[in-house]
Amino acid sequence: MDRETTVVLENLALNSDHRMLVVEAPRLSALARPGQFAELATSGATLLRKPISIAMADKEKGTLVFVFRMIGKGTEYLGSLEPSSELDIIGPLGNGFDTNCGSALLIGGGVGTPPLLYLTSRLRKEGKKVSVVLGARGKGDLLLLDEFAKLGIEPLCATDNGSFGVRGTVVTALEEKASFDAGTKLYACGPWPMLKALAAFSESKGLELEVLLEAYMGCGMGVCVGCTVPTTEGMKRVCKEGPAFDAKEILWNKIR
Ligand SMILES: Cc1cc2nc3c(=O)[nH]c(=O)nc-3n(C[C@H](O)[C@H](O)[C@H](O)COP(=O)(O)OP(=O)(O)OC[C@H]3O[C@@H](n4cnc5c(N)ncnc54)[C@H](O)[C@@H]3O)c2cc1C
Ligand code: FES
Repeated sequence: MDRETTVVLENLALNSDHRMLVVEAPRLSALARPGQFAELATSGATLLRKPISIAMADKEKGTLVFVFRMIGKGTEYLGSLEPSSELDIIGPLGNGFDTNCGSALLIGGGVGTPPLLYLTSRLRKEGKKVSVVLGARGKGDLLLLDEFAKLGIEPLCATDNGSFGVRGTVVTALEEKASFDAGTKLYACGPWPMLKALAAFSESKGLELEVLLEAYMGCGMGVCVGCTVPTTEGMKRVCKEGPAFDAKEILWNKIR
């Protein structure tokens, strides 16, 4: 973990409420692993820093990418940052994904998609076979399709309203369209109901599933114990022992 005063290079609108922020962060970009997150300062717009997943890190260019949905004061502040402005970042935080697998199927729901972009890039560099399934409410809400294409991936898409790809959820898409080998490892990030459904799906198929969890966070660094989830080994902190967990470890029936 480190702290760096980064410089905003780009702040792009992806659609009406999602933005992609690219910052120059030579130190943090060299440390970041897929599945880790960072705490972004909001210069007093909010009391606390905002935890945002690392959507991409490029240590050669010295850049970090964040993709976020503007839903409150903190993310609106981040969305308003102009190129050349400074942004104080603490990170990378959390454990990150375990990329030890043969082939991988990555499943993203809504704003859970961004961390899977960096995971895709890393797994491809490690020579793994990767496929991606993305879900969203409608076509306009599907994120990062162009960025996945640049990595040579055409995601299988599912939309709730049927405006693009399979009509239904990512589980519908998996059941109807996805093909994968028996030893494929699943990685997922998205809303809790999606992760819970995927935990049941993976168990029924005998597949390994690693989930990237989100929780309300205070400190983001393991101190306040405000982000715990029930696991088979007691309560664990999403910010410290997670955010990546083996789905079998999470007590899904005790959550929400
Ligand atoms: C490890 C981690 C990684 C994250 N990565 C991303 C990411 O890559 N992109 C992204 O858009 N968001 C991500 N989030 C969520 C993001 O941190 C929150 O959306 C953000 O803090 C909201 O701040 P705000 O001040 O804009 O809104 P607030 O005013 O704080 O909240 C606005 C609304 O969002 C809800 N909300 C706030 N935080 C969360 C949360 N953690 N989970 C669910 N609902 C929440 C509030 O209840 C409220 O309804 C991540 C959260 C965690 C814990
Ligand atoms: S947010 Fe404080 S311990 Fe996780």
